[in-house]
Amino acid sequence: MMTVKEGTNVGRKVITAADMKKPLNLTSQAFTDNKQGYFKWLRENDPVHKGKLFGMMNIYLLTRYDDCVNMLKDPRFIRNRTTATGGGGRFPFPLPKSVQMLANSMINDDEPNHRRLRTLVHKAFTPRQLRKLEDRVHEITKELLDKAEQKGEMELMEEFARPIPVTIIAEMVGVKVEDVPELTHYVDAVTENMSGLGIAKTMFWDMPKAIKFVKGLIELKRKNPADDILTALIEAEEEGERLTEDEIIAMVFLLIIAGHETTYNLITNMTYTLLQHPDQLALLRSDWGLIDSAVEEVLRFDGPLYGTKPEYPTEDVTIRGVTIPKGSTVMPMLGAANFDEDIFENPEVFDITREKNRHLGFGMGIHYCLGAPLARIETKIAIQALFERNPNLRLAVDPSELKLAARPGWHMYKSMPVKLG
Ligand code: HEM
Repeated sequence: MMTVKEGTNVGRKVITAADMKKPLNLTSQAFTDNKQGYFKWLRENDPVHKGKLFGMMNIYLLTRYDDCVNMLKDPRFIRNRTTATGGGGRFPFPLPKSVQMLANSMINDDEPNHRRLRTLVHKAFTPRQLRKLEDRVHEITKELLDKAEQKGEMELMEEFARPIPVTIIAEMVGVKVEDVPELTHYVDAVTENMSGLGIAKTMFWDMPKAIKFVKGLIELKRKNPADDILTALIEAEEEGERLTEDEIIAMVFLLIIAGHETTYNLITNMTYTLLQHPDQLALLRSDWGLIDSAVEEVLRFDGPLYGTKPEYPTEDVTIRGVTIPKGSTVMPMLGAANFDEDIFENPEVFDITREKNRHLGFGMGIHYCLGAPLARIETKIAIQALFERNPNLRLAVDPSELKLAARPGWHMYKSMPVKLG
């Protein structure tokens, strides 16, 4: 077994043809723990690979940068499977009504519906609008670090990285801070228990309760309108902009989930990557002006999402000699594209001064991340405060003890205990 770079996101084990006798299974632990090892082999040997999702569903995986970009800009690839196949279910497997309601958000929709929905919320996410939130991000960060300082240690994900974006997005949407724990409970149920016995409980118990909870919020907001996204959506509905209550519910869930799951994992991954690269950390500490390019480099090198939502071609499409049949499930591997040697010089080197970093960490095309400016603000403030206030910040366990979650599309840790003093 050849080792590339121990303890970093760069594949620990070099993958050979012998490891690839079976289709790659995205939910296998082997892949989860060595994504870049597999991505490198696929980019070089099988850039349009027919892999597996949950060990049974076929999924075409694109691993070269240009293929991912071309596909994400190609109108023949769409998100609504029913339209692509001319019939059948919206998703490759049957889903109960409550799940469909939450899943039918704009991230899984196509034009013109996607644009109609995105236009309704995009105003809240312009850089100018978001700069107003900077003070609030500083305030939350400070409170969390004050608390952690008293203990001298913390579980970084739950006690620091998560509460920052959760509080911000809840306040933006218009959820009361005291309601945030209940909402995050549902979000966890919806996003985490998607395997084994957990699925049934999630689909038939948690999701209907989650929908009821958001319906309650809408009722309250109708009576007490405020300066927030939920009120704007309700007003749009009332002004007859063809927005249904189901669409409002799906949007609230999308914003809450997309608005914090990704960011808290970026803050976590960035902390980890900097600790694993002391030279780069020292450079950043000596010049915080590098924080912008450092965040972009982590999005490339160790970003929280390695794939987009699945897409379905509306006709047979041939890429590099492989014909992807109409209606098949396809996923561009953003995490693989971000290490493509044709695009990035020395992609396996973590370099916070990297210039013209055209990473795909926020996706590409019509679904390009709506919250990218917000994610950048939150991550920069959180990371600078964390490292400035804690010169001795270090992992509380050996890196080999950290576990990655086997969630398709995600590069995320299960926990990250750190010591401060
Ligand atoms: C580090 C943080 C983040 C990362 C890495 C990230 C990444 C991404 C990616 C890769 C996509 C494209 C997904 C696809 O094509 O299927 C996306 C879409 C999206 N993101 Fe983010 N995101 C982050 C933070 C946020 C935040 C803070 C929000 C705020 C609400 C947000 C809201 C969204 C929404 C609504 C979409 C769907 C846009 C559409 O369908 O038009 N994201 N994000």
